[in-house]
Amino acid sequence: MPTFADRLIRWQLEAGRHHLPWQGNQDPYAIWIAEIMLQQTQVTTVIPYYQRFMRAFPDIATLASAAPDDVLALWSGLGYYARGRNLHQAARLLVSEHGGVFPASASAIEQLPGIGRSTAAAIAAFAFGERCAILDGNVKRILVRYFGVYSHPAGKAVEARLWQMAEKLLPVNNQEKAMATYTQAFMDLGALVCTRSRPKCEYCPLQQECVAFTHGSTDQLPVPKPQ
Ligand code: ADE
Ligand code: SF4
Repeated sequence: MPTFADRLIRWQLEAGRHHLPWQGNQDPYAIWIAEIMLQQTQVTTVIPYYQRFMRAFPDIATLASAAPDDVLALWSGLGYYARGRNLHQAARLLVSEHGGVFPASASAIEQLPGIGRSTAAAIAAFAFGERCAILDGNVKRILVRYFGVYSHPAGKAVEARLWQMAEKLLPVNNQEKAMATYTQAFMDLGALVCTRSRPKCEYCPLQQECVAFTHGSTDQLPVPKPQ
């Protein structure tokens, strides 16, 4: 029987996205910039901003020595300017305290300003193949449907359970690229198949074991915030 991770990885290779501008790149700096931009902004909006930003600030040192106004100018339009300021501040911190080298583990990445546990894990999985779980909005939606979690997923206890589930599901074999493909698979499945409304369960590699699909309750999960 293929595992959850096997199914996701195989699906990503066949049906996932492979031509996003930050893919196929193992430079943690490039992945970091993309993940921060993608935190609150859609992929299609991010792409031109990402390309302009990377041309202007191709590495940590260039970003760190840039004038704040030049950084914010290339950020304007993406919104959430705190992200741009944090990014710039983090680049300066990397130069002043890390010798200009991007940290190479999720736990060290998480110490940087503006980076939470899930974003740190995504960067570490893509750049270093580290075996660590992400739990962004897409992953939460997929897991609450797959496991049939009928409680609002933003509560502390539910969130802790979701982190545990996400960790248990990680691929066991650490073959090259497995973690990058697996992590991308969650993002792609959430964007393309297990969408907020009208998920396309007929194309989903998890359908057989998905509680929401089996119960016919995909439109009730995730459970909305209690009033
Ligand atoms: N959303 C957050 N990170 C992403 C990524 N690496 N690719 C596509 N969508 C994303
Ligand atoms: Fe989401 Fe449907 Fe797949 Fe379940 S079967 S994970 S609800 S797309």
